[in-house]
Amino acid sequence: GQIGKDGYRHFMEKELHEHPVAIGQTLQRITDPVTRRIALPPMPFDVATLPRVTITACGSAFYAGMVGRYWLEELARLPIDIDVASELRYRNPPQPDRGLALLISQSGETADTLGVLRELKAAGQHVVSVLNVEHSTMGRESDLVLGMVAGPEISVASTKAFTAQLSVLAALTLDFARQRSLLDEAKERELTDSLLDLPSHAMEVLGLFDAIRSMARIIAQARDVLYLGRGICMPIAQEGALKLKEISYIHAEAYAAGELKHGPISLIDPSVPVVAIAPSTILFEKTLSNLQEARARGGRILVFTDAKGAEQLKDIAEHIIILPDVNAFVAPILYTIPVQILAYEVALLKGTDVDQPRNLAKSVTVE
Ligand code: G6P
Repeated sequence: GQIGKDGYRHFMEKELHEHPVAIGQTLQRITDPVTRRIALPPMPFDVATLPRVTITACGSAFYAGMVGRYWLEELARLPIDIDVASELRYRNPPQPDRGLALLISQSGETADTLGVLRELKAAGQHVVSVLNVEHSTMGRESDLVLGMVAGPEISVASTKAFTAQLSVLAALTLDFARQRSLLDEAKERELTDSLLDLPSHAMEVLGLFDAIRSMARIIAQARDVLYLGRGICMPIAQEGALKLKEISYIHAEAYAAGELKHGPISLIDPSVPVVAIAPSTILFEKTLSNLQEARARGGRILVFTDAKGAEQLKDIAEHIIILPDVNAFVAPILYTIPVQILAYEVALLKGTDVDQPRNLAKSVTVE
């Protein structure tokens, strides 16, 4: 039947509320109900001897891939090449014999990503796709599809598909790390549990709409916004900046917080809010000192952190949103949710067409 908004004002609002379900259902499908261990379908290649992984995607899916890169490098010790599909396609990087091409797409129809799929397949790479629409062109042409179970996503700006993509990539990382004998049982249990606990933490975050709305009032006044993050939270800063641009038409840039001093710090003044994705568990001291530098130059600091981080940020931040404490492994998934809500709330204040932003399409099937 036809998909409705279920009483929400926009599909985006409805789909933001579906984060916990999208994460939960996606993980449920790939978790053994008895052992509560991740159980992915067998890979059509030997993971232990895999020489390299090439990750590609477009838009939000690309930022999910960037998080996947940090995970796979750190936990599965795999060399990664990653690029947006429209670049990777024409870069012609040397391909190792029987490497893995890992593609990420909500629709499974994005022309640039599909183009890379075909090129890398022709170059002898194994093709695994992380897709929401499994019965899609990419689905048919892949060696293996890892499905998200996010349900249909109607809003042009991706929301729940992004956290579902991340959930699959986190599971894939655990699976690969295990197959490469890099994960002892205790560590696997800890990381798996942190993943399986996410739906309930995501529910808590949905209780923060009102707090995020008051942060949105500051952003809605701005012409330019800077998003900062480090390490595995840097792609979440990028996702936040993309989402803000897409639906509120406010210019936003994301930077690795450590790069601030090499350029963007010259932009900082009270009219350019700085939004930081700063869980206390991820390079926090470094981010803190970057934010202190921004504050000293008159920047208005708005932060997403946890209770421990908030304690240290309270003197420099104008607005702090406190998220539940979670393992650093899953922090990028959880922190995505308030960052997307922020863009949504700003778009509401600006009165833009949230579900159908100008010039954008849900699925771009031309190059
Ligand atoms: C379009 C959408 C984005 C999406 C991107 C990739 O640009 O507006 O929200 O992230 O395509 O789409 P895909 O279906 O491949 O994930």
